[in-house]
Amino acid sequence: MTHSARKPLVAGNWKMHKTVAESVALAHAVAEARVGPRTEVVLAPVFTALGPVAAALRGTNFGVAGQDCHWEPQGAYTGAIAPEMLRDVGCTHCIVGHSERRQYFGETDAGVHRKIVALGRVKLVPIACLGETLAERESGATFSVLSRQLDGMFGSLDAEGADALAANLVVAYEPVWAIGTGRTAKSSDAQLAHAFLRDRLRDRLGDVAERIRILYGGSVKADNAAELMAQPDIDGVLVGGASLDAAGFSRIIQAAGSS
Ligand code: PGA
Repeated sequence: MTHSARKPLVAGNWKMHKTVAESVALAHAVAEARVGPRTEVVLAPVFTALGPVAAALRGTNFGVAGQDCHWEPQGAYTGAIAPEMLRDVGCTHCIVGHSERRQYFGETDAGVHRKIVALGRVKLVPIACLGETLAERESGATFSVLSRQLDGMFGSLDAEGADALAANLVVAYEPVWAIGTGRTAKSSDAQLAHAFLRDRLRDRLGDVAERIRILYGGSVKADNAAELMAQPDIDGVLVGGASLDAAGFSRIIQAAGSS
């Protein structure tokens, strides 16, 4: 499967921003965007706004994502949300392993693995994030870090297990030094990382790897999105700051339509 055969995905990660009313207003504004027939759009508001945003987007093709989940279906895990509960309020996707979860909340590759499996169980699409820090990049460790993360995150997932997930599975390469810094990876450097990740996924999972969409994230804006998505292994973008502005985010959605 080639780049053009994989449906581009544009995901907006709103992080810890916006009240319910503000989230619903932003979702309505983004839903006005002209979305190419082959483009998939997913919005990830805070937990409290998931249900209202999903309701506001009913009847559109937009998906809704949690920003994290637990791996158990229920239990004594104060503060946590199960994949089943995300599904219950209308989610279609869930981000896991975001670098902010890793940095501030102790998320590990092994935990991400359990979450990916748990999401697969209830047919929510995992958007599984990974990426190197600046120190790791500068010491030449980028590819070994990506390998280690990928192995940990996909753990014991074999070709068969992956096949069940893979039509859906989304990986997001987000170099930590590019997140929220205004420093985007050069599209050629991002492409190298994406091609490396696809090769590693192919070694591990076989042909299924061709169907897995690999998004780029880290200071994506309306004016760099098209160039990034034109790269052969960049199948969409995960957008933080720029997804909070409906007009700018709509331009990113349009850029995906022409990638
Ligand atoms: P950013 O965030 O676009 O603000 O850099 C991306 C992300 O954290 O997903």
